[in-house]
Amino acid sequence: MKTSLNFKLLGLLALFVLLSACRGAPSERTQIQPIQNMYWQQKFKAFEPNDFFEDRRAMRAPVEGTIPRGFLENDAQIFMGVNMDGSYVETIPIELDLELLQRGQRVYDIYCTPCHGLSGYGDGIVIGRGYVPPPSFHEERVLSMPDGEIHSAIYNGAGSMPSYRHAVGVAEDRWAVVAYIRALQVSQGATDQDLEELGLDRASLQTSDDMYQDMASN
Ligand code: HEC
Repeated sequence: MKTSLNFKLLGLLALFVLLSACRGAPSERTQIQPIQNMYWQQKFKAFEPNDFFEDRRAMRAPVEGTIPRGFLENDAQIFMGVNMDGSYVETIPIELDLELLQRGQRVYDIYCTPCHGLSGYGDGIVIGRGYVPPPSFHEERVLSMPDGEIHSAIYNGAGSMPSYRHAVGVAEDRWAVVAYIRALQVSQGATDQDLEELGLDRASLQTSDDMYQDMASN
């Protein structure tokens, strides 16, 4: 009984060893393919010449005006900040949340502070070097602008301010900046009563403002 079990085991082992050797070995010879299907196809590889076209390039440029998937900017309110009749949209046309506002702060701090200053008073570092001073965001004219007009300053530029369309190329980022400018306006226009309601006091905020000044003068 015991021996026959051992033989069986031995047999299985031998079979295993034999079968495990059965894998495709690389061969130098061309494969024989009885059914070719589409195995061999005429094609051009990248950068190969192609006499069919006048410029002899096999690689063709997309047709002019082609828009890659996901890049269609077909909503004028979102992408340009204007309504169908060309007037500015009154309010930010995308959904606002804290994350977007924080994104706005980041983008504003990078692209807008050199001229408009960290708090939006138009006292950025470049102004001290002789650049045309921008308006303060806290003056009545800018306070009462529709959101779309602020967006337009980024998208189209305004007077001597160049367009920042390419630097801030994503519509959400532009609206995030608009939202942040609105937040700056609210913060700079806050009354003692507003602060009280939020449980803040001017003195503690003033301290951080001094820190800010120190940072700016360094
Ligand atoms: C190179 C300096 C510079 C930078 C950077 C800059 N601006 Fe301006 N901005 C100006 C100047 C100068 C004006 C005033 C233009 C004028 O009235 O001729 C202005 C005006 C504006 C106005 C008011 C437009 C109006 O119709 O009066 C807004 C809003 C504005 N900027 C937003 C921004 C935002 C947002 C950014 C960042 C994405 C930014 N700016 C970056 C220089 C700058």
